[in-house]
Formats: sequence, C-alpha cells, structure tokens
Amino acid sequence: MAESTDTAVEETEATISDAVTVDTDGFGGTALTDEVVLEVTDLQTHFTTRWGTVKAVDGVNYHVRRGETLGIVGESGSGKSVTALSLMRLVPSPPGHIVGGTVVLNGRNLLELTEGEMTEVRGGEISIILQDPMQALNPVFNIQNQVGEAIRIHQKLKGAVLWDKIVDSLRKVRIPAPEVRAKDFPHQLSGGMRQRVVGAIGISSAPSVIIADEPTTSLDVTIQAAYLRLLRQIQQEEGVAIVFITHDFGIVAKMCDRVAVMYAGRIVELSDVRTIFNEPKHEYTKALIGSVPKLEEKTGRLPQIEGQPPLLYNLPPGDAFAPRSTLEFAPEDAERRPPLVEVEPDHWVQLSRSSVAEYDKYAHLMPAE
Ligand SMILES: Nc1ncnc2c1ncn2[C@@H]1O[C@H](COP(=O)(O)OP(=O)(O)OP(=O)(O)O)[C@@H](O)[C@H]1O
Ligand SMILES: [Mg+2]
Repeated sequence: MAESTDTAVEETEATISDAVTVDTDGFGGTALTDEVVLEVTDLQTHFTTRWGTVKAVDGVNYHVRRGETLGIVGESGSGKSVTALSLMRLVPSPPGHIVGGTVVLNGRNLLELTEGEMTEVRGGEISIILQDPMQALNPVFNIQNQVGEAIRIHQKLKGAVLWDKIVDSLRKVRIPAPEVRAKDFPHQLSGGMRQRVVGAIGISSAPSVIIADEPTTSLDVTIQAAYLRLLRQIQQEEGVAIVFITHDFGIVAKMCDRVAVMYAGRIVELSDVRTIFNEPKHEYTKALIGSVPKLEEKTGRLPQIEGQPPLLYNLPPGDAFAPRSTLEFAPEDAERRPPLVEVEPDHWVQLSRSSVAEYDKYAHLMPAE
C-alpha cells in the first residue's frame, strides 16, 4: 500500500517538473484539514466610472481550509487584488462598491459587520501583506510603534507585555537582534527586512487567514526564496490559512495546496496544485501553464498569451475568454454566462463549449438555466 502511494507521488512530481520543479524540503503540500475558515460566495465588486461600470470582481466563489494555502493566479487586471481588498472591506469607495455576495470568516459574514466590528477583524482574524512594504509601513514611525500599534488594537496590551509581544513577533519572522531593530525606522532596514516587518504585523495577532498579495515581487530572488520559506514555516507553526496572490507559477508549485485561476473578474478553474499543472481543463489555464517559462529563464512574470484580456468596462454577458480561446466559438456562449462546475471531485471549471475542449464529456453537469 505504502509502496504504491510512493510511486504515484513520484510519477506526479516527474510530470510537474516538466514545467517547474517542486521542492520536497518543506515547500508545498501541507496536510489539509476539512475545517473551512473562509468562504467567499458570489462576491461582486464594481467600480462606477464615467466610462461605465467596471465589474472587477464578478461572482467569485472559493473557500479556504485551516492551514492551507490557496493560490490566486491570473493576468494583470483580472481582479485578484480587488477580490483581496473586498475580503478586507478595503475597496476605495467611491468609486468601488461591493454589490453582492458573502464573505464568511469563522462563521460570520464580514459584509454585514459594522465598520467598528470590521476594524477588530482586520489585522485580528484576517490580515493582508501587500506587495510594497514601503507602502505598508509609515516612514515616520519606528518598527516598535508600527508592530505595537497592530498588537495594541487587537490585544489591548500595554507596557512590558506589549514590548515582549513586539519582540516576539519580530523574532517569529527571524529578524536578528529584534530588541535593537525595533528602534529602527523603515528606511534603516533592507527591503527583505522591511517585508519581514510587514509579515510580523500580519501575524502578530495570530489571524486565521493571511492574504499575501504578491508579497515578494519587490524582493530579489534569493531573499524571495527565504521569505517564502519563512511564510511556510510560520504557517505550519500557527496553522494560519494563506491566500497567496501571484503571477509566478514557480511560486505556486512550491507554496500552494490549491489554485484558483482568475480571468476577467471570475474564477475559471480551481483545483489542487497537481491537477492544475497536470490536467488543466480550461483553455486559459492551459495557456498559462503552457507559457510557464523554463526554470533557467524564469522571469517571474507570466509571458504574453495571444490576444488581450478584455476591458472590464461594460463587459458583455457570456464567456469572456471565448474571443481568445483557440477552440471554435459556440454561439450559445455569446449570451450565456458559463457556470463554475465541479467536473471531477474538487476540480471546478467554468464550463463552456468555447473554452473547454472536453465540454461534451461534462455537458450533463451543466445546471439547468
Ligand atoms: N479605483 C479603481 N477605479 C476603477 N477601476 C479600478 C480601480 N481599482 C481597480 N480597478 C479595476 O479593477 C480591475 C481589477 O484590478 P486588480 O487590481 O484587482 O487586478 P489584479 O488582478 O490584481 O492585477 P495585477 O496582477 O496587475 O495586480 C482592473 O480592470 C482595474 O482597472
Ligand atoms: Mg494586483
């Protein structure tokens, strides 16, 4: 029994390594539990502009289990960051509005909380690590103040207890001599150290979910790897779930348990990381995987796919990917919005004839209109 399982794993890894390598030194594949901590249902966020309505998030559905990492991938402008900001209720308004859906975190719908309750949740139960640490840190306050502020709000600590907690948070993100560095201002730290401080703020209140929005793009490759390893370790120590937004499929393979692929404000495919790499069903996912650069020439950004992502102003109904799909266009997809269908256990695909080659095989799963 054990032997046959080993073989299966080896085979899978060999297939993945055609595209990217998967390390076995603690990266990838944390044990999943079944406990769902975050469930997003039919989330819709629109921007009202003078050119029309931008449906930046247009009915997103996913859930995250305790201690797992869900990757969110997709081209620039597909709605990854606006989805993240919507979960935190940090979408700038105006022009943005969350117009529908639910975001249930630990059993409560965040979209129904008062602003006061939401302040408690933000940085308490759920926190976000942004791409640019300089943007997240205030240049006029030292590190002690900024990490302390987050802890003070959520845990109401003061004095020596607060100080110990600040030092402890900095130590968790492996900042050397934390008692000394706590007195530094952001500009006195390297980019990698600043990103760790942002991480320390993110984990300081032991949240259930951390959203990491391209947290390593501003770091060089070596520091990037160290930071990702660190995030992974913290995740294992704290049991926190991570929603990891990235352009980089190499990082996805190492970091994520499951992957959601976003296109034009919607999820077009969602499954575990091996399935996404080895058996993608949606033409968009296939294009993304096919365009993963070989390891030697890894650039970290997704190369261009034929055609342009659609403008999200007044996006017509129907299958938004159809115009770029290499499959023959099916007229029914001009009007019909393709549903996200569970085609195999835990493998969800936005099912349409124009964008899924195996459409006929799964057509019986299409919900009645
Ligand atoms: N304040 C705003 N006003 C109008 N439109 C906006 C605003 N913020 C975001 N958008 C639009 O929402 C859409 C989704 O943007 P989002 O930032 O979520 O993309 P993304 O997937 O995170 O892209 P990237 O990979 O470049 O970070 C884009 O079309 C963007 O132009
Ligand atoms: Mg973004």
